[in-house]
Order: sequence, then structure tokens, then C-alpha cells
Amino acid sequence: MRALLSMGVATALLVAGCASRVAWSSLAEPSSGRAAEQLARARAAKDALAKALMAELSKELTERGAASAIDVCATRAPQIASEVGREHGLRIGRTSWKLRNASNRAPSWAEAAVAERASAARYFASDSGELGVLLPIAMQSACLGCHGAPAALGDGVADALALRYPDDRATGFALGEVRGWFWIEVP
Ligand code: HEC
Repeated sequence: MRALLSMGVATALLVAGCASRVAWSSLAEPSSGRAAEQLARARAAKDALAKALMAELSKELTERGAASAIDVCATRAPQIASEVGREHGLRIGRTSWKLRNASNRAPSWAEAAVAERASAARYFASDSGELGVLLPIAMQSACLGCHGAPAALGDGVADALALRYPDDRATGFALGEVRGWFWIEVP
């Protein structure tokens, strides 16, 4: 048991050590070669995730209203992201400079661009050949009911948010503003 435990610790240390040694640098939009292929895969995964999220969201909004749809966003959004990631063989998620769910924090390579509130796409390469892509998401009218100014929030939304996300920072966004980003890590 002790041997097993220390093996576990050693593995954890090794993994943590490796993760922190991966260095990322920013690069211009890839237009040829392997990076361009990785970018095409990133875009395809982003389109699939955006489409799946919007489909579930609009269904819930029409059938149950904004306050109930929050539950669906909370449980389904992370599930859909990992399903799309598995299907496309990459890692994908959403992040923001004002988070609703703290577990949507950006991966380390994207942190600086998120802090700058990059309004255009950004690209990064790791020294082990991965491509990191950050794609901005603009506020649309369909988002106002849950991310807009207090007066724009749907019925019961403020209460539902306070219950589920006591540290919510993701309201007060205006139409057209950058709400957040899709981040994609392509191996
Ligand atoms: C029904 C309410 C609702 C609507 C409408 C809605 N969202 Fe959200 N949004 C949420 C909830 C709840 C979360 C937290 C999900 C989670 O726990 O991962 C969230 C999370 C996010 C995140 C991830 C970052 C974070 O803050 O955790 C982004 C980006 C985002 N929403 C963008 C949008 C955009 C863009 C629209 C409009 C197209 C939109 N949302 C519409 C409820 C909503």
C-alpha cells in the first residue's frame, strides 16, 4: 500500500513537473503546414461546440425560460465541451475575463490574452507541437437574459444565479462586447 502510495505521489510529481515545463509562445495565424491543419481542426471543433450549445440553449429558453435554462447550462455546457473534445481528439472549453463558473478558467497559455481582453483570435504553439487557439465570443441578444445588465436579465435569473453561482461575475455585458472565448488545444 505504501509502495503504491509513493508511486502515486511520484507519478503526480512527474506529471506536474512535465506540465509546468511545456513552454508556449504566441504566433501569427498559421496559413500552411501542420499548424494550418491543426487550426482547421480547432475551427471545426469550435463550430461543433457553438452549434450544440446554441441548440440546447434555444430549446431550453423556449420550453422552460431563462431561469430554468441556467441549470441546463450549468450541467450540460461542460459535458458538451468534453464530448466535442473527445470526438475531435482535442481539448476545448470556454473562458472569460469575467467568469460565472471558476472552473472555466483559461489554460495558462491563454491567460495573458484573456487579461488583455483580446478581441481578435490569438494563436499559440507549444514546444511539444500543440497549437493553442483562442477565439472571441461576442454578446448577442440571446445572451442578454443571463449575461446582460441587471435590467436586461430574465425573470428569476438573478435569484437562480445567486443560488448556483454565488461568485458570479458574468453579468453587465453589453451587446457586441467580448463575453469570452473558446479555447482549443490541438495535439
Ligand atoms: C439561460 C441562461 C444563459 C444564457 C441565455 C447564456 N448563458 Fe452563458 N452561461 C450561463 C451559465 C449558467 C454559465 C456557466 C456554465 C458553467 O457552469 O460552465 C455560462 C457560461 C458562459 C461562458 C463560460 C465562461 C464563464 O463565465 O463561466 C461563456 C463564454 C458564455 N456563457 C457565453 C454566452 C453567450 C455568448 C451567450 C449567448 C449566445 C450565452 N452565454 C447565453 C447561462 C447562460
